[in-house]
Amino acid sequence: MRSDFGTTSRGEKASLYTLKNQNGMEIAVSDYGAVLVKVLVPDRDDNLQDVVLGYDDVKGYESGTLYFGATVGRIANRIKGGTFELGGQTYTLTQNDNKNTLHGGTDYYDKRMWKVEEADDSHVMLMLHSPDGDQGFPGTVDIHVTYTLTEENEVKIHYHAVPEEDTILNLTNHSYFNLSGHASGTILNQEVTILADAYTRADAESIPTGEIVPVEGTPMDFRNRKAVGLEIESDYEALVYGQGYDHNWVLNGSGNRLVAAMYSDETGIEMKVYTDLPGMQFYTGNFIVQEKGKDGADYQKRQAACFESQYFPDAVHKEQFEGPVVRAGEVYDTVTSYRFG
Ligand code: BGC
Repeated sequence: MRSDFGTTSRGEKASLYTLKNQNGMEIAVSDYGAVLVKVLVPDRDDNLQDVVLGYDDVKGYESGTLYFGATVGRIANRIKGGTFELGGQTYTLTQNDNKNTLHGGTDYYDKRMWKVEEADDSHVMLMLHSPDGDQGFPGTVDIHVTYTLTEENEVKIHYHAVPEEDTILNLTNHSYFNLSGHASGTILNQEVTILADAYTRADAESIPTGEIVPVEGTPMDFRNRKAVGLEIESDYEALVYGQGYDHNWVLNGSGNRLVAAMYSDETGIEMKVYTDLPGMQFYTGNFIVQEKGKDGADYQKRQAACFESQYFPDAVHKEQFEGPVVRAGEVYDTVTSYRFG
């Protein structure tokens, strides 16, 4: 179902597409930014809880700077120095995070109108035409993002792109989850599992040093479910630099697999994260400061967590990290899903 979602300052009319399944679950996606606006999940008393942070209309998404529900590209996360080389050429990007590039660099994918190519009650396919030189990246590419709401209560996000020239690609979704409800306060008591034996160490600017550090015996160990807040204030380098959790975990296994989970005892809602990508940024909303959101909500620090599937940050500068080069005519195809129970 399509409904109006307001008009941007450029005069573009945005829409909201609502998808529903037989179990009463509902999600909403906008063609502005291909953002995931709502995820309504029945709690243990069968009341619907909206478990993602967001805004009421397109104006909120236009002025917001926190990437609520955002589709992020061309390269999610950071590129050191805002520059990289490909095929003997040097490319220069916007430096929007210290001297580095974060989430594509200022001309964000989540601030553009995407074209809806297909939509029904269970899926919506959006397309963004990104020309050669877009955000400073080489290679023309049409990016397709398809959101599907399955009967297994799964929000499945499928990314598909075939660049016309060589480029680099690393697309993710930046939804902020709070399984007690988007306006319920901190997530410090919610429990998280991350199926990763290691994480990528990063410097004070969150750029990986290249070292892969075992989580064993550190506050980064989420292999057994634990409360987000249990060790978040530890005097541990990563947590000090990130002002909480804001790191890339080296996910165990390969292929589409279960990589993480989150649980709220308050609502009984559990979310399981599946992806075919090698890494995931687990970010605990450390930089949310007084953000006005949906239905008058007033979001604060650590009131949500992001599970951003990805190639490792700064992979373009690290031989030992997989990705993110995609050659002309090659298929970039990945799926990440969030399953609720
Ligand atoms: C980054 C954080 C950043 C956030 C923006 C995350 O992906 O790792 O450092 O502050 O996005 O909301």
